[in-house]
Amino acid sequence: MRVLVIGSGAREHALLLALQKDPQVEALAIAPGNAGTALIADQHQVDITSGDDVADLARRVRADLVVIGPEIPLVLGVADAVREAGIACFGPSKEAAQIEGSKAFAKEVMAAAGVRTAASEIVDNPARLDAALGRFGVAAGDPAWVVKDDRLAAGKGVVVTPDRDVARAHAAGLLEAGHPVLLESYLDGPEVSLFSVVDGPTVVPMMAAQDFKRVGDGDTGPNTGGMGAYAPLPWLPPDVFREMVSKIVEPVAAELVRRGSPFSGLLYTGLAITAKGPAVVEFNCRFGDPETQSVLALLETPLGQLLYAAATGKLAGVGDLRWRDGAAVTVVLAAENYPGRPRLGDVVVGADADGVLHAGTARRDDGAIVSSGGRVLSVVGTGPDLSAAREAAYHTLESIKLPGGHFRRDIALAAAEGKIHV
Ligand code: GLY
Repeated sequence: MRVLVIGSGAREHALLLALQKDPQVEALAIAPGNAGTALIADQHQVDITSGDDVADLARRVRADLVVIGPEIPLVLGVADAVREAGIACFGPSKEAAQIEGSKAFAKEVMAAAGVRTAASEIVDNPARLDAALGRFGVAAGDPAWVVKDDRLAAGKGVVVTPDRDVARAHAAGLLEAGHPVLLESYLDGPEVSLFSVVDGPTVVPMMAAQDFKRVGDGDTGPNTGGMGAYAPLPWLPPDVFREMVSKIVEPVAAELVRRGSPFSGLLYTGLAITAKGPAVVEFNCRFGDPETQSVLALLETPLGQLLYAAATGKLAGVGDLRWRDGAAVTVVLAAENYPGRPRLGDVVVGADADGVLHAGTARRDDGAIVSSGGRVLSVVGTGPDLSAAREAAYHTLESIKLPGGHFRRDIALAAAEGKIHV
């Protein structure tokens, strides 16, 4: 099988590494990729938001399967263009990708499927903002306001704050930029990222993971695209996992089929385990980053065969996935000033160590690896348990040098110390 991966992050580097281990995968290509993926796949430069360009490339590299990593091409319908070219594609149609692209669509689907989620309201008129803020957050007895950009914002459009002025300023800024604002009630409890391979009504859940969205230790500072992740979740009871699948993911997959927009690809369910049980924070239409880096480090089932089965309507025959024992911890090394405008062009030393996945990296003419994005590398440690996996990841990080680079030191710490309870 020849596989073309679309994207350029550490998630795509992890996908390539897992695909490379599948004995049925004979050739790998990527567009646009990064300095790390260039070492394991043929790298191509195309406009990944253009369905025609991606379909053309898939034909040129004689791909049997295209795997689309990021949400933007999916929301724009690139998977449809690849399928129309007669090539199997792992990624939902433009219509089904609305589960991530339109929060209003996601809320409608959840309501129809009877799935628990936060109460919400869309504000698109600044004159209505103050009254709406009065119905949420501290004003409504919640510990904080949850203010989201209703458009795709790579995780950075969310502000969760107990301070009404901060909530108002974020919402007003979004409205000024012409972006509708989504206000939500606050969901208390530890968060879970659950990936499911889905094809129509068929759902094959992966191992649950947890990510860390804030930039600073102790969940401080602004939201980011994700600063780290770990799997498995020793604190998540198996019956809660089963409930997430049977009461949330399966009904949502069935509802999408009922509406005539069946989902085919990776359905990412972001949940909070509240006192009343799991409730949905968000859906995404693709693998999460950086959770993928941890989850795929533990997957034993050959990834190419799994994604190909989903892309060709054969997922129902796949059965349960197989996992390695142990744990995986991913720590993201970010450039100076991220999640603000990152400083780029710094030389990264040590980026070729084992367990290092590239994201915002490029190779300079003199051969040096330099930073080219906010999240520069993901460092993945594995071990028999979370403590050992943390130790492995942080040990590797010590050997990497990036001027101004920063990372969180508490990824998976509370879970390793047994301090998370539901
Ligand atoms: N880790 C969050 C995301 O991928 O959206």
